[in-house]
Amino acid sequence: MEISRGYARRRRALVVGNWKMNGLVETALDMGEALRLGFDERKNSCEVVLCPPFTALYALHQQLGDSSVKLGAQNMFDEEFGAYTGEVCGIMLRNVGCRYVIIGHSERRALFHEDDILVARKLLAAFRDGLQPILCLGETLSQREAGQTMTVLASQLEPALQAIQDHRDKWSQLVLAYEPVWAIGTGRHATPAQIQEVHQFLRGILASSLDEENSQRIRILYGGSVKPENAGMIFAQPDVDGGLVGGASLQSKDFLAIIDTLPSDA
Ligand code: PGA
Repeated sequence: MEISRGYARRRRALVVGNWKMNGLVETALDMGEALRLGFDERKNSCEVVLCPPFTALYALHQQLGDSSVKLGAQNMFDEEFGAYTGEVCGIMLRNVGCRYVIIGHSERRALFHEDDILVARKLLAAFRDGLQPILCLGETLSQREAGQTMTVLASQLEPALQAIQDHRDKWSQLVLAYEPVWAIGTGRHATPAQIQEVHQFLRGILASSLDEENSQRIRILYGGSVKPENAGMIFAQPDVDGGLVGGASLQSKDFLAIIDTLPSDA
């Protein structure tokens, strides 16, 4: 199969494990250790990030040490410190070893009513606090069936890009994750052609709203039922720069098998 890997030329592949609300400290440490050993021995030059629940971050940070496996958070609040009971800010996340933060995951949009305005504020806060944001976008099944996929994605992405207009020095740190809502946790992934079509469309918006150079540098991940069996064909798409993996990141064997579908020089 002829494989044209855009990231091999311009962008470093990135695979992110989103554990969601799973994993006590003990299990997280077991998984972290298996992944650290497995990944460090592989010499794969892709970037690997784990996003465990907040409660496991510090322990994993201590355990991972200078391993090449990095940490991210699943969410953050946009204020710095203060009377925001139950919230966690970016500086606190940096303090426990996070380099990345997932923003606007569809579960947060649907279950916790996060709208595009709040998502844009969190994006700015991530830049302010020195975290690389992984901004999630995605359409529902009814939106796809109604032919609204691209309109919905543009309406999610454009306000976020508007919010970061004045932060040109940080643009290349942005990561996008296309996660069709109907593919998350369902076992039904989008086809490689559907994924490539969306990623190319998103890269076009990056070029027109930011600039051409950054549109080629910003990584766009796919998420939604990524498994060892389908990862290779998804990652082979020229505008796919890696994956945001939920369920399959909870087993180190599966997560490592997904990483193995990337070429070792990715
Ligand atoms: P999934 O979740 O891989 O279990 O579909 C992906 C995600 O929600 O980020």
